[in-house]
Amino acid sequence: MTINETIQVANSQMPTIGMGLWKLEQDQAAKAVRDAIAIGYRHLDSATDYANELQVGDGISQALAEGLCSREDLWVTSKLWNTDHRAEHVRPALERTLKDLQVDYLDLYLIHFPIALKHVPHDHHYPADWLYDQNDPNGKMQLDAVPLSETWAAMEEMVEAGLVRHIGVCNFSTGLIHDLLTYAKIPPAVVQVESHPYFTQEPLLRLCRERNIAVTAFSPLGALSYVPLNMAKATDTVLEEPVVLTAAKRLNKTPAQIVLRWGIQRNVAIIPKSSNPERLRENLQLFDFSLNDQEMVDISALNRNQRFNDPGEFCERVFGAFHPIYD
Ligand SMILES: NC(=O)c1ccc[n+]([C@@H]2O[C@H](COP(=O)([O-])OP(=O)(O)OC[C@H]3O[C@@H](n4cnc5c(N)ncnc54)[C@H](OP(=O)(O)O)[C@@H]3O)[C@@H](O)[C@H]2O)c1
Repeated sequence: MTINETIQVANSQMPTIGMGLWKLEQDQAAKAVRDAIAIGYRHLDSATDYANELQVGDGISQALAEGLCSREDLWVTSKLWNTDHRAEHVRPALERTLKDLQVDYLDLYLIHFPIALKHVPHDHHYPADWLYDQNDPNGKMQLDAVPLSETWAAMEEMVEAGLVRHIGVCNFSTGLIHDLLTYAKIPPAVVQVESHPYFTQEPLLRLCRERNIAVTAFSPLGALSYVPLNMAKATDTVLEEPVVLTAAKRLNKTPAQIVLRWGIQRNVAIIPKSSNPERLRENLQLFDFSLNDQEMVDISALNRNQRFNDPGEFCERVFGAFHPIYD
């Protein structure tokens, strides 16, 4: 089965494989991004929340200055944080991201979570986190009553202002996607959600396919990034599943390549993160082999509806607020 190196997003083409930037350490981010562009990454998945946009911007600038590619060759995504959902905060939030990333426009701007938190002025603490007051040892998450329709209308204005080419959402359930489509003047171009063999999200993928919305799968390798955060157990790894190991042996690929290839063979984009140059290279090399139909079926059958990134769980455990967004 042939999978293209780009995926249709509205009237554009987005590189199918992007580099995830969550948890990329500040002191490594510039070099990692520059080196990733040098080995062929053209899609970067950034966010204010990752607290490394300045360093990511240095990496992009360095790559452009070296002539590794042009700005137009890159697909740069970033995300609006929860504390900037009010209409008047959307443009300043985007402008700060553009300044830090050292670009004039984004290819894609996403609402990071369908959760509005009380605004934290940028000169007080940037980037804001889940807690309103980072310095208060008893600090709690503080919600703000902002309808998503208000935030979306402000996102649409950013397209009209030429600051972003496309807009979309993350962590929306199918119900919220249905609702968004009722009021959106500009429909979401991309929905970014957690998806891997333990969490295949078939209904959401089908809904998006039927509404011409592209899907990006985050955490495409499953539990790995959540183990150090105590949000998954080391034994939750899909990389040791016999069906993955058997396919890896047949195709002479690594288990990670099998799981990532399964991801793109479902016609979704993926944004694996790695701080390791060898693994970054490995994660890009997915176009010279394919899984057969049975392997696709067998890997999909690993689904356990197991979500690792669930605000309903971690917000209560870590930030003192029960705020589920999924049933
Ligand atoms: N929208 C959202 O709410 C949201 C939420 C989560 C993530 N994201 C985005 O999605 C990106 C990816 O998700 P993620 O970082 O959670 O998970 P991921 O990319 O599925 O997994 C990353 C983990 O896998 C390891 N790894 C990477 N390549 C590997 C390979 N070839 N073999 C073995 N291990 C490998 C990494 O370790 P090393 O670094 O040591 O290689 C890291 O521990 C994020 O960086 C972020 O951009 C978005």
